Amino acid sequence: MNFLAIETSCDETSVAIFTDDLQIRANLVASQTDLHARFKGVVPELAARAHLQRLLPLVDEALRQANLKLADIGCIAVLNTPGLVGALLVGVSAAKMLALALEAPLVSANHIEAHIYACRMVAGRDIFPCVGLVVSGGHTSLFHCHSALQFELLGATIDDAAGEAFDKVAALLGLGFPGGPAVEREAKGGDPAAYSLPRSFLHQDRLSFSFSGLKTAVLYALHGKNVAEGPAPPAGKTRTDLAASFQQAVVDVLVAKCRQALQKTGLARLAVGGGVAANQQLRAGLEAMTRAEGAELFIPPMTLCTDNAAMAAIAVEKWRHGMFAPAELDAVATYQGSA
Ligand code: KG4
Ligand code: ZN
Repeated sequence: MNFLAIETSCDETSVAIFTDDLQIRANLVASQTDLHARFKGVVPELAARAHLQRLLPLVDEALRQANLKLADIGCIAVLNTPGLVGALLVGVSAAKMLALALEAPLVSANHIEAHIYACRMVAGRDIFPCVGLVVSGGHTSLFHCHSALQFELLGATIDDAAGEAFDKVAALLGLGFPGGPAVEREAKGGDPAAYSLPRSFLHQDRLSFSFSGLKTAVLYALHGKNVAEGPAPPAGKTRTDLAASFQQAVVDVLVAKCRQALQKTGLARLAVGGGVAANQQLRAGLEAMTRAEGAELFIPPMTLCTDNAAMAAIAVEKWRHGMFAPAELDAVATYQGSA
């Protein structure tokens, strides 16, 4: 049984084909990074238009790679929430059209929960129940994942997401967009203790995150207090040390909150997804922490950490339970629990 899945929540158009036993036959991602780079962030209207141009050619290419015809597809899956509503709508509309034309069932899934499910796909075995951490450009959330179909939110960021902080600090340091990989590259060789930056809620019991103060602290470290903005620092020690200190502050908080979540829930498995999970420093920190806690760590390889349609295979679980999407399925911008 072949599933065709669509992801258009932000600035990556992605189409995947996978089977009901979770074998990935194609997972194509058309990135829009170049389109948005000069604006230093994703422009929603441009993203939606680019999805419209790229989606159907990507469907054709995925079928070609999987050596299948449209008629071989038995189910359509779409990530319909959360994300930029105009961007999501392109994927939702295309998915509905394909399901209708193929007389195939349509299954919707939640983008955030799908990031965790990428860990299940890679593990090749059940990973539930587990603690789930999603760290992306739009979200920093901890879950008690009771099963693939039951996610309980334990806590989330009260302001910026971790990836958003990486992107904003990259802009302050003149490192370009997207910021995560650029800050990580710059941080190599830097002193992570050079600047003392805030680690919000680190010693508090609550499983919440806050990264906007950290971003402001980087701004003050660069230009002094009460300076709104100034020129980016040139390449050199200041920039490298600030990048390393910032990255260390984010990693410390994420690792500490995951440890707290494991201890609070009594679970012995941690599954991590989202673009920031591609960060080597974070991966190393989580590996050391889970080893010390006697817990298992699941993090997908880079290509399944960042946005992709293969993670929509969480739809296979819903399909098994006959949880099909209604014909009036809509795109929903904010996270409101399982789609
Ligand atoms: O999951 P994702 O591809 O898209 C969203 O759903 O948001 O995550 C994108 C985010 C961006 O903010 C990007 O800067 C960040 O993930 N990111 C990283 C790294 N690679 C991507 N952050 C830190 N280190 C990285 N290596
Ligand atoms: Zn994502």
